[in-house]
Amino acid sequence: VAPLKVGIAGLGTVGAEVVRLIETQARVLAGRSGRGIRVVAVTARSKAKKRGVDLRGVDWAKDPISLATHPEVDCFVELMGGAGDPALSAVEAALGAGKSVVTANKALLAKHGLKLAKAAEKNGGALNFEAAVGAAIPVIKTLREGLAGTGINRVYGILNGTCNYILTRMEQEGLSFAECLKDAQRLGYAEANPSFDVDGHDTAQKLAILASLAFGTKVAQSAVYVEGISSIAPEDLRAADDLGYRLKLLGVAVRTAKGIEQRVHPTMVPKSSSIAQVMGVTNAVTIDGEGIPPITLVGPGAGGAATASAVVADIADVARGIRANPFGRPISQLRDTQKAPMERH
Ligand code: NDP
Ligand code: HSE
Repeated sequence: VAPLKVGIAGLGTVGAEVVRLIETQARVLAGRSGRGIRVVAVTARSKAKKRGVDLRGVDWAKDPISLATHPEVDCFVELMGGAGDPALSAVEAALGAGKSVVTANKALLAKHGLKLAKAAEKNGGALNFEAAVGAAIPVIKTLREGLAGTGINRVYGILNGTCNYILTRMEQEGLSFAECLKDAQRLGYAEANPSFDVDGHDTAQKLAILASLAFGTKVAQSAVYVEGISSIAPEDLRAADDLGYRLKLLGVAVRTAKGIEQRVHPTMVPKSSSIAQVMGVTNAVTIDGEGIPPITLVGPGAGGAATASAVVADIADVARGIRANPFGRPISQLRDTQKAPMERH
C-alpha cells in the first residue's frame, strides 16, 4: 500500500515534534496503520530557522495554502495556530480539495469548526483534532466514540496546562504570576499570545468543543462565560489554603432546564478532592454520563511531545482510512445550545 503523504504547516513546539515522532515511530506507525506515513512537504514563516529535525528530502512549500493544495499531500496538518488566516484559508483549501486535515488549533475550531466540518462532510476528507483539547489525553475520541451510546449530563475539568502550571507553582513555591507565566512560555505550554491562556479563552474554546461533542450541540464559544486567572495573587492561594481549598481554573459545561450552560472561572475546590490533586501542566476532564459513574481522564495537557502524540494518532487514523463525523454526528443534526435539553440523546 502506498504511504500516506503528509504536509505540515507550522514547525514550532508541536510541528517539529510531530516531524520527529513520525520519523522515530515509523515502524510502529506503519504496523498500526497498515501503511507508511511520510512527511513530504512542510512550511513555516522562516525557512532559515534551525528546528532540530531532519527535513532533508522534504519539500518546502512557499506558503500554507500552497502546502494545503500541494499535489503530493494527502493529509494536511495545520500547526500554526490562530482562529483566522492563514490557518483558516489553508484548512479550507485542503478540505475543499478533498484532503484530510489534522489540527491542534482549538481557536480555529471553536470559531469555524462547524463550517470546516461541513466542508469535510461535503468533500469526503477527515477533520481530526484530538490534540486541540487536553493534548495527549484522548478526550475527543472518548466523547465521540467511546461514549457514543451514553447520554452526557456534564463535562468539566482543568483544560489549560499553562494556568494549572502557574497556579501550582505560585502555590507551592510562592513565585509571582509573571515568573510562572514566563516559565510556561519557555517550556512551550503557552499560546503564542498567552493572554488566551490566562484570560480563560483557551479553556473556553476547548470547553465549547467538548460541549458540542457531549451534547450534540453547535460549537458556541460566544455562549461561554469566561473569567481567567490573571488577577490571582499568591495571597488568594494562601487564603484558599487556610480554608482547606485550592484554586483551579475550571471549565464546566452542564445540561440544565434552560439549555447547555458553559462557564470558565477560577474555582475553590476542597483540597481532599481528586481535582485538587491535579498539579502542574496536567489536565483532567470528568464526564458525567447517564447511568454510569463519572469517568475522569487525566494526563499531560500541553507541551510539544504530549500534543504531538495526539496529532500523530490522528494522522494514523487518516492512514487507516478512519473518518469520523468531526463533531460526532452530521452537522445538520447539531442543535443550538439553548434547545439541547429538550431531548436527551
Ligand atoms: P508555535 O508558536 O511554537 O509554532 C507555530 C508555528 O507556525 C511556527 O513554526 C511558525 O513559523 C508557524 N507559523 C505561524 N504563522 C505562520 C504563517 N503565517 N505562515 C506559515 N507558518 C506560520 O506554536 P505551537 O507549536 O505551540 O502551537 C501550534 C498549534 O498547536 C496552535 O494551534 C496551538 O494552539 C496548538 N496547541 C499547542 C499546544 C502546546 O502545548 N504548545 C498544545 C495543544 C495545542 P516560524 O517557526 O517560522 O515562526
Ligand atoms: N496553551 C495551551 C495550554 C496548550 O496551556 O493548555 C494546550 O492546548
